[in-house]
Amino acid sequence: MAASYVGKKTWPFLKMSHSNLLLHLLVGCVLVSAVDRNNFKKCDQSSFCKRNRKLQPGNSPYAAVMESVKISDSLIEMDVLNTANGVLLSLELHGMEMNTARLRIKESGKKRYEVPDVVQPHLIKSRWTVSQTRDSLEASLQNGITVRLTASPLRLDVMEEDNVLISVNSRGLMNFEHLREKKSPKPPGEEGREGEEGEAQQDVAEEPGMWEETYKSHTDHKPKGPTSVGMDFSFPGFDHVYGIPEHADSFALKTTVSTDPYRLYNLDVFEYELYNPMALYGSVPYMLAHSSERTVGLFWLNSAETWIDISSNTADKSMFNRMLDFMKRDSEVPQVDTHWFSESGIIDVFFLLGPTTEQVMYQYATITGMPSMPPLFSIAYHQCRWNYNDEDDVKNVDAKFDENDIPYDVIWLDIEHTDGKRYMTWDSHKFSHPIEMQNQVAAKGRKMVTIVDPHLKKDSGYHLNREAIDNGYVVRTHDNNDYEGWCWPGSSSYPDFTRADVRSWWADKLSYENYKGSTPNLFTWNDMNEPSVFNGPEVTMHKDTVHADGWEHRDVHNVYGYYVHMATVDGQIKRSGGKERPFVLSRAFFAGSQRYGAIWTGDNEASWDHLKMSIPMLLSIGVAGIPFIGADVGGFFKNPDPELLTRWYQAGSFQPFFRAHAHLDTKRREPWLLPPHMTDIVRKAIRTRYALLPYWYTGFYKSSNTGSPVMRPMWQEFPEDESTFSMDNQYMIGESLLVKPVTDPGANSVSVYFPGENVVWYDVNTLEKFVGPSTQSVFVNLEKIPVYQRGGTIVPRKERVRRCSTLGIADPYTLIVALDTKQEAAGQLYMDDGHSFDYKSGLFQYKHITYKNNIIQSRSVDMNGRYQTKSWLERVVVIGVARSPKVIELSGDTISTHHVEFSFNQSNNVLVIRKPDVNMATDWLMSLKM
Ligand code: NOJ
Repeated sequence: MAASYVGKKTWPFLKMSHSNLLLHLLVGCVLVSAVDRNNFKKCDQSSFCKRNRKLQPGNSPYAAVMESVKISDSLIEMDVLNTANGVLLSLELHGMEMNTARLRIKESGKKRYEVPDVVQPHLIKSRWTVSQTRDSLEASLQNGITVRLTASPLRLDVMEEDNVLISVNSRGLMNFEHLREKKSPKPPGEEGREGEEGEAQQDVAEEPGMWEETYKSHTDHKPKGPTSVGMDFSFPGFDHVYGIPEHADSFALKTTVSTDPYRLYNLDVFEYELYNPMALYGSVPYMLAHSSERTVGLFWLNSAETWIDISSNTADKSMFNRMLDFMKRDSEVPQVDTHWFSESGIIDVFFLLGPTTEQVMYQYATITGMPSMPPLFSIAYHQCRWNYNDEDDVKNVDAKFDENDIPYDVIWLDIEHTDGKRYMTWDSHKFSHPIEMQNQVAAKGRKMVTIVDPHLKKDSGYHLNREAIDNGYVVRTHDNNDYEGWCWPGSSSYPDFTRADVRSWWADKLSYENYKGSTPNLFTWNDMNEPSVFNGPEVTMHKDTVHADGWEHRDVHNVYGYYVHMATVDGQIKRSGGKERPFVLSRAFFAGSQRYGAIWTGDNEASWDHLKMSIPMLLSIGVAGIPFIGADVGGFFKNPDPELLTRWYQAGSFQPFFRAHAHLDTKRREPWLLPPHMTDIVRKAIRTRYALLPYWYTGFYKSSNTGSPVMRPMWQEFPEDESTFSMDNQYMIGESLLVKPVTDPGANSVSVYFPGENVVWYDVNTLEKFVGPSTQSVFVNLEKIPVYQRGGTIVPRKERVRRCSTLGIADPYTLIVALDTKQEAAGQLYMDDGHSFDYKSGLFQYKHITYKNNIIQSRSVDMNGRYQTKSWLERVVVIGVARSPKVIELSGDTISTHHVEFSFNQSNNVLVIRKPDVNMATDWLMSLKM
């Protein structure tokens, strides 16, 4: 990658004061070397990765001590002995509701980090029925799974009836590096004497890197010595695994036999490369295995640096051997083998046994929390760049959207809006009237976002830094000083967000009184929260820094950014007295981040490859439980050519978080700067997003109740169709829309796969019909976004063009009813005020709309809904109606029964019902008399 790009172009050297210039030169130098992928660790540069990867399948030294088994209802406990060194571990097996179980292995009598604040409190337990022999134990949950535990060597098989779904330690790769005292050279004469308990356990040969490790110029002190944990999990019967974001790689995970393992370690990777298992900004240690028969999930709850090796008996076979199998008719059961290891903590694993994909997603969201319901404006279009320079700039950009009739909801301010990168302050020259500026934007129904990074400029005059230091809130070095790292403002301190008191202090800082110049229309962007430390090892915090209760950064690294996100969200909720929904975008994330808000894929590049990569990256994060996700539209680095930018807008308009963003050194690229015919196309794409907001909003509501992503893999909807299992370039939005973004320059056709036996699909623009399963080459001009509605579904839209989403809140609805081969369809519509938490106390409407037996009907699914809306039904388009009705009669709760106008187009079987004029909050019925 272009290492010199940063040094030469990224930094606005010319306009800087001397001290700033020096700082930027320094930072620039650090970053120049950081762009090189060799500046991020490979497995063989990490001692614990090497030690774990070196383990070979074989007999595990670990054995369950069957005499120690204790059973109480939902919990089975026992000791596990490391027969190689006599160290005792304790194993817990928790039975949980809904076909899930949890396995925990800790070190007896020792304190090791256990990730708090991610798993939901009060998970419902489920009782085990246990039968035990001298060397095995079988535990079953009612109507659910069985865990068969073999004592020696320790192995667990998670089964349903006779089928093993997940095997644990079947390859014998379990590893639990116990806490130990560092061996010091013995005084003369005592060399041979057996020492205390700790010393008796010094079994593992000392290896370099166990007590201290050096990477580049950084020394990692490890007073606790080697503490890694590892385990192997096999998925018999599965060929495909997914998840464990964040990586810029294919959606179906690859085997890592000839590469590094997939790495989970939140990092600010400058100009990240595509198609490799390197770590990126976020980590969700959660994997799904899917086959045409079922889906299962495995959640490894550990916030330390983690690596995952994947191999597969089918994928790793040579072509020759596969041919041989074929000729011999030898159909070996496929199996994916995985090996997980983390630098510290305990072994804490959840097994989610589905059996359906939707059930696995629900099970995961039950454990880590349901996604929050975003405010409506946040799922509309966002305009960002580094930077909108001053208040005039904001005003002009805002006005230009109106001049060009392009809707948008939010304008963003990057780091340059602050007083010298002191977050929650304003540059007094460029942004001297922040409240007036926000009010002007808000007068049109729009919002603003400012960036708030977690590093605090080391300046005693900066209130946040001073308070953090004075209160002892900042992360400490291994030798007990305040930790100092370099980031945008220069030398910075880093609040310890793992502490509840620090989070609560931070949350208070977001109040209107404390964050001067903020208003209720200002929302937040948490960037650099991996945390990014320009002069730290791998551009992040030293692992030996110390957090609350003496935990090292090594233990909490992957959850640090999650806590920043949590604290900021809490602050936003607090500032409105708990009334308003928050909106906070975060770059770093962990399992459970779905409870807080949106995530984006960081610093991508204006290239067709990065546009393509946005799809598998977002799908991976989505199946890992985080639905509100997006990639910078246009690509952050470099200048997209007009065609790429246009295509990116089209793709982004069909991705959950839709924000254009650009690097400081790129040319301006707001939609009206494109050639006019392309501005027209972008306008159309953004308007299409707005028209479909009711569908998106309903999708997010469903997500917040089910954990299922809005942007989802084809196989979620067509779980049996193996040809979708490796699909990286087309996906579904909800149950109804299939999207195949154009991601190649000069394309005049794309190939679309229409799944489903006898399922009909309608082009949403032309209403052309396709029947599945089939692959079709469809024509695309620059205007075309290939999107298809599945027959059998109903999609709600709002067709009035507005300046922003909030202005359309009371607008009428159009329903697009696409019939299946049985002449039926169904869909949902969710409505509320779009911004408050009132929906939680009943101010919502959730409608189930059906077309069956020539009757279209809308009924409340949830009778608790009391939201009143002015929105009425403007139009119903029914696609695929066999013949024209003679009359259509409308009746409802609040209207007298009457006939409604319609027209029928015989050439394409489309029926349009005009102005039914019934309030959308009410229940109604339309009868088509044939
Ligand atoms: C890095 C972020 O990824 C990018 O989006 C942002 O513009 C810069 N930091 C500056 O804040």
